[in-house]
Amino acid sequence: MASGRHETFLCDIGVDHFIDYTTTPLEQAAYKVDLVLDVVGAKDGDRLLDVLKQGGRLVPIFLGQYSAERAASASVTISLCLMHPDAAQLSKMSRLIDSGRVRVALEMVVPLWEARQAHEHGESQHLRGKIVLRVMK
Ligand SMILES: NC(=O)c1ccc[n+]([C@@H]2O[C@H](COP(=O)([O-])OP(=O)(O)OC[C@H]3O[C@@H](n4cnc5c(N)ncnc54)[C@H](OP(=O)(O)O)[C@@H]3O)[C@@H](O)[C@H]2O)c1
Repeated sequence: MASGRHETFLCDIGVDHFIDYTTTPLEQAAYKVDLVLDVVGAKDGDRLLDVLKQGGRLVPIFLGQYSAERAASASVTISLCLMHPDAAQLSKMSRLIDSGRVRVALEMVVPLWEARQAHEHGESQHLRGKIVLRVMK
């Protein structure tokens, strides 16, 4: 899911079925799915629980608000995914990127001294990719 301005980009990186959340309610577009990734931290997170199949999995990377009772009654597992600085993991990711199996979109590349503005920009929740801080020229 994203807004329509990202559709071409997302289909280009492999999305099979694009849903524009600004025009289509999630409940109309998805039903009995295996896995939902919440990258927004949904305040109405029970909507995400409702589209999962019995025994499905909800993985927030930004914690939203979900009803524990509702999750339990649908046998849905909620497991937060948190990244930690880890050299081995970063090395594996860089190999995946080098091989082309993972493609990384860049929202912007800015010098380190613009970190504050970059952080503020990152809080918009409407990025397309990563913000890179350039440490050296
Ligand atoms: N758990 C971790 O270890 C970890 C690691 C890195 C980042 N994070 C956090 O994870 C979150 C996501 O990071 P991100 O890099 O993907 O940046 P982001 O800028 O928060 O990306 C959000 C994406 O979600 C879409 N979106 C925004 N509102 C939406 C809504 N109501 N419904 C559906 N889609 C919506 C946006 O698309 P549109 O522009 O079309 O609205 C945008 O493409 C951030 O809050 C970040 O801090 C967590």
